Amino acid sequence: MSLKVLGIESSCDDTSASVLEDGVICSNVINTQAIHEQYGGVVPELASRAHQQNIVLVVKEALSQSGFKLKDIDLIAFTKGPGLLGSLMVGTSFAKGLSISTNKPLIGVNHLHGHLLAHLLRKKGEPKSDTKFPYLCLLVSGGHTQIVIVYDYLKFEIIGKTIDDAAGEAFDKCAKVLGLPYPGGPVIDKLAAKGNPEAFKFNKPKIKDLDFSFSGLKTSFLYKLKDNLKQDTSFIKHNLEDLAASLQATIIEILLEKLTMAVELTGVKEVAISGGVSANKGLREALTNLAGEKKWKIHLPKLQYTTDNAAMIGLVGYFMYLRGDVSSLEVLPQARLNFMDF
Ligand code: KG4
Ligand code: ZN
Repeated sequence: MSLKVLGIESSCDDTSASVLEDGVICSNVINTQAIHEQYGGVVPELASRAHQQNIVLVVKEALSQSGFKLKDIDLIAFTKGPGLLGSLMVGTSFAKGLSISTNKPLIGVNHLHGHLLAHLLRKKGEPKSDTKFPYLCLLVSGGHTQIVIVYDYLKFEIIGKTIDDAAGEAFDKCAKVLGLPYPGGPVIDKLAAKGNPEAFKFNKPKIKDLDFSFSGLKTSFLYKLKDNLKQDTSFIKHNLEDLAASLQATIIEILLEKLTMAVELTGVKEVAISGGVSANKGLREALTNLAGEKKWKIHLPKLQYTTDNAAMIGLVGYFMYLRGDVSSLEVLPQARLNFMDF
């Protein structure tokens, strides 16, 4: 008998549901809330409301696309944190309601744990990843920047993290001062492809060990703009592509320097990336080149699994269930859920 999981994700601004059979994706429906674009960032109150509007439709669509009925599902996995509390409450309450009404087990999943396994996600008919444990995962999203050593599907350790902003935040905040829409990462990525990455230099942080910092880069970027705008009020317009390319190159350099250090310190040469920023073309290209040079084996998640999705939550739920981890109905969403709590 196969094990069918319904995954539900609602930690930020994506309402997503997915059905997996024995850890393989049957459907993965994502509704990205467009309402936040006009505000230059995610507005928590609006995100919760949009989840409330979307969740029934998204879950119904995921079931319908999978070809299974609710009664066929064996367990319900949902994101219990970290994330925006109001958003998490929608997914948590919905999952609890489903669990009570169908009498199926409920599993609360740590969102970051989902990102760690993103490159292992596959649809029916697609080959299984040849990843070997342990591997290093550079998790780069809008809220997190970490290097994690993954020993097993359910066992991992953070060996480096940001002490302030996340890499995605650096993309988004710098894009905002350039007058670009939210989320800024994908827009910078496109512009960067046409610009000169060496046109401008920005300060890189001097942080010890495997930790990151991005707040200094943001300030350095802002000052560069301010200084130049004094001489030329059209500075941004005339240099947009070069600014994007130089900013992106600096972020990539910061990430890959620490990743190289992590490989050297741990001796682990199997490397994955995940999270929204892992969709970045420049990062993928630079990592591929570096891996060729250093003889690392790399794993890049498919683009649709880089950003938030319920398939990664369902996959973690599947492994947790096999280990016997089931949540009680008293489970609560936790905005600041620690990475190691799952
Ligand atoms: O993983 P994610 O969907 O949500 C969080 O858990 O944070 O990541 C969203 C972040 C945003 O900061 C967005 O700008 C960034 O990922 N992002 C990118 C790209 N696509 C998304 N950053 C750089 N290049 C991209 N192509
Ligand atoms: Zn995420």
